[in-house]
Formats: sequence, structure tokens, C-alpha cells
Amino acid sequence: MTTPALDQASPRHTSPLVTVRDLAVAYGDGPLVLDGVDLDLHPGEMVALLGASGSGKSTLMKSLTGFAPINSGTVRVVGVDMTDLRRGRLRHVRASVGQIFQQFNLVGRLSVLTNVLTGALHDAGAINLVGGFSTAHRKRAMELLDRVGIAYKATDQARTLSGGQQQRVAIARALMQRPQLILADEPVASLDPTMSQSVLDLLHEIAREDGIPVLVSLHVLPLALEHSDRIVGLRHGEVLVSAPTAQLDAAALDLLYAHDDREAGLVQDLV
Ligand SMILES: Nc1ncnc2c1ncn2[C@@H]1O[C@H](COP(=O)(O)OP(=O)(O)OP(=O)(O)O)[C@@H](O)[C@H]1O
Ligand SMILES: [Mg+2]
Repeated sequence: MTTPALDQASPRHTSPLVTVRDLAVAYGDGPLVLDGVDLDLHPGEMVALLGASGSGKSTLMKSLTGFAPINSGTVRVVGVDMTDLRRGRLRHVRASVGQIFQQFNLVGRLSVLTNVLTGALHDAGAINLVGGFSTAHRKRAMELLDRVGIAYKATDQARTLSGGQQQRVAIARALMQRPQLILADEPVASLDPTMSQSVLDLLHEIAREDGIPVLVSLHVLPLALEHSDRIVGLRHGEVLVSAPTAQLDAAALDLLYAHDDREAGLVQDLV
């Protein structure tokens, strides 16, 4: 197994917002599900995270928001050392990271606008007891809905929207946080191919225009090749590929999904 040098052939002039070094994660007494993982995320780049089911993609994302048990290694997110967390720092990190999920995680009976406004809840000035969300926050939420192309749905209940529309609301909600980093865990797995393209276009545009690093896990290789600046591929919890997307093709990524002796052995044990 080869682990290419970090960010090879990818010179950067900005310091990374996320630095992961030699990360090991295990749940309870179980085996390591991440082992020796290195990752840098720089402003403005969209990084696709690939790997077979169970390779550790969601766990790596969770380690960036304090939801995975870090055994060893270092994880720095927006300047905070995630292995030395005091309560206030964890809150700061979670407020700084916009998260987008496969199932959108909107509150279906609330309006689209209110869902977007909930992205500002970490901001103490967002709500006053008499009038609810401030006028400034409502204005910003409408601007964000306009940016993601669904301002005309602002007063509709979120549950009445299509999957692609709901994911756009979720993206607007994440932007409402004024995030320094966006994590999107399989954001297009529930969407049709056209919607998938447009949601990934939107995320890539946000990365570029707002200078926010976007880490997006995907299961569809052509989408990763088309919509990322860099690809990080996990296999059994280790980084097998880390390179600019322009240097990769589908054949190079097939390695991530190839059956190996370990799996063959498991299958033999079962029969
Ligand atoms: N809360 C948990 N407790 C125990 N084991 C876990 C937990 N979460 C994940 N795992 C294990 O960690 C490994 C990596 O899981 P993870 O969810 O990170 O994979 P993934 O790459 O996101 O997979 P998928 O593509 O199916 O979403 C798996 O073996 C899984 O069973
Ligand atoms: Mg996952």
C-alpha cells in the first residue's frame, strides 16, 4: 500500500484551515477505523473524499467536529486543537463548520426561510424575545435563498420541496452560519443525476467565491472527478490517494474499491 506525500504537486500560498496528522480513531475497544491519516484543507478548494463503504469517510468528517474518538495524532480545525478541547472551543468549532447531510436534516413543518434562519442560532444577536429573528438576519437569509436559487419557496414548508431543493435550503442554512469550513457527507446520494450536478456545482462555486474549503464525500467517481480540485481516497481507514484531481483518472481510483485478500479471506471464512 502506498501513501503519497501530502498534497504533492499542489503548492499552496495560504495556510490550511484544517490540518490532520497521523490520526488514529477507534470506537470503544474496536479496531482502528482510521490509521495514520493526514489531511490538509485550504481556503477555496473543494476536496472529494472517496472510499468504499466503511472506509472511514464519515468518521474522518466527525473527527473535524469533535464527534469521533481521537486515539492519537493531531487534528487542528480553524485554529483549534481538537485533541485538547474545552467546552467553549468545541462550540466555536461547531459554529464555524457548516454541515450538509445526505438526508438534508431540515425541520419539515417549518418554512424554508425559518430553516435557513436556524443556521444563525449560535449567534446570540440573532433572536430577540419579542420579534424573533432580527431583520438583518431575515434579510441575509433571503439573500442566501436567492443565491441558491429558491427564494420563491421562502414561505413554503420545507417538507413540500424536492430533494434537490431541500439540499439547496440546507446549503443556505450552512452559509447562514458564516462558516469557515463546509463538510458535506454524501450530499447528493439521495438526488437524481441532474440535481447532483447542480448541487455540486453550487458547493464548488461557494468554495471558490467565498474561499471556504469544502470537504465532500461521494460514491460516484465521475462526479468526484468533475467537481473537485483534489481527491483524498481512503481504504480500510488509511489514505491511499491524495492528489490534485487533474492528475487522477477513474483507473487510479479503482484501487480504492478493489477487493483484496482481506476481503477474500473473510468471504472464505463465511462459506
Ligand atoms: N459509532 C460507531 N461505533 C462503532 N463503530 C463505528 C461507529 N461509526 C462507524 N463505525 C465503524 O467505523 C468504520 C468506518 O465507518 P464510517 O461510517 O466512517 O465509514 P464510511 O466510509 O463513511 O462508510 P459509508 O460509505 O457506508 O458511509 C466502519 O467499520 C463502521 O462500522
Ligand atoms: Mg459515511
